[in-house]
Amino acid sequence: MRVEITIQRYNVETDVKPRFVDYCLEAGRETTVLLALLKIKSEMDGSLSFRASCRAAICGSCNMQINGVQKLACNTSVFDELDRHGKIVIGPMANMPVIKDMVVDMAPFWDKIRQVKPYVVSHNEHSPVPTAALKTIQDDLHNADACIMCGACLSACNSFEVSPEFVGPAALAKAYRFQVDPRDEIGTNRLAQLQEDGGIWDCVRCVYCVQVCPKEVAPMEQIVRLRRMSIQSGMDTTIGARHITQFVKVVGEEGRLNESRLPLLMLLKHLGKLIQTLPLAIKMLFRGKAVMPFGTPPQGHEVVRAIFKGRKK
Ligand code: SF4
Ligand code: SF4
Ligand code: FES
Repeated sequence: MRVEITIQRYNVETDVKPRFVDYCLEAGRETTVLLALLKIKSEMDGSLSFRASCRAAICGSCNMQINGVQKLACNTSVFDELDRHGKIVIGPMANMPVIKDMVVDMAPFWDKIRQVKPYVVSHNEHSPVPTAALKTIQDDLHNADACIMCGACLSACNSFEVSPEFVGPAALAKAYRFQVDPRDEIGTNRLAQLQEDGGIWDCVRCVYCVQVCPKEVAPMEQIVRLRRMSIQSGMDTTIGARHITQFVKVVGEEGRLNESRLPLLMLLKHLGKLIQTLPLAIKMLFRGKAVMPFGTPPQGHEVVRAIFKGRKK
């Protein structure tokens, strides 16, 4: 069958802005986007640039945007894309500088991976790890070790798009992978570093990293595990950690979410932020968008409180 593929072309050294070029070629049920790109490069336009190596969803190098979603080209069927979208538009990964066509500069991705010390640090490398610990590690990893470093999650990350200092989903999934490794000895330091601005509390839980990951690493879920570990180990003074602890406290005490009291409790130890938030809070109160801090709780609040009380026992 004859298909048309639209490709974003851009060369940072010669072009002022990207342009879209249409290519027509024969494709069958077995044609992947990567096979189509290879055909275009060898038969129509040798200047087309993209990365690929294994052709088997292993090396992670062929990630690009296919119909607006980060996907591995070697793992994406041309026919499936046409069935779903009626067209095929290909471009480079977002959130990373484009060098040429689908080739992006992965430096931001690797810089972030390096930030979390993605390796085992052990001063006793010759002492054996207890067998029991080795047996449980596979369960504790929650697939965080399956990452192929394709960069799709960082490219799709909302938080990274607006805050480039955010360490990002892949690096945080990697950090989690080493936090649960029984051989590693710098877990406390690594976790403490992740409490800072740009760390685990900057994820806005948009779930995009989970959706685009071709290996089901589910970075956001690993971030949630890192958050849980932080609170359990007493690293609970950040605004993010206090949002969780105080949320549970308020709902447990009042049987409802008191949106006026929660920010006060959260920001008590962050006076600057509290002062910044006050005008908005007052506006919301006057417009009826937030409940009065000491107003009567809604009907049924006793039931919720009883549930929380029972949970504590
Ligand atoms: S869930 Fe968090 S880490 Fe994942 S893409 Fe969204 S903001 Fe980024
Ligand atoms: S976590 Fe998934 S999407 Fe992110 S780099 Fe690793 S394999 Fe790719
Ligand atoms: S070519 Fe290796 S993952 Fe696609």
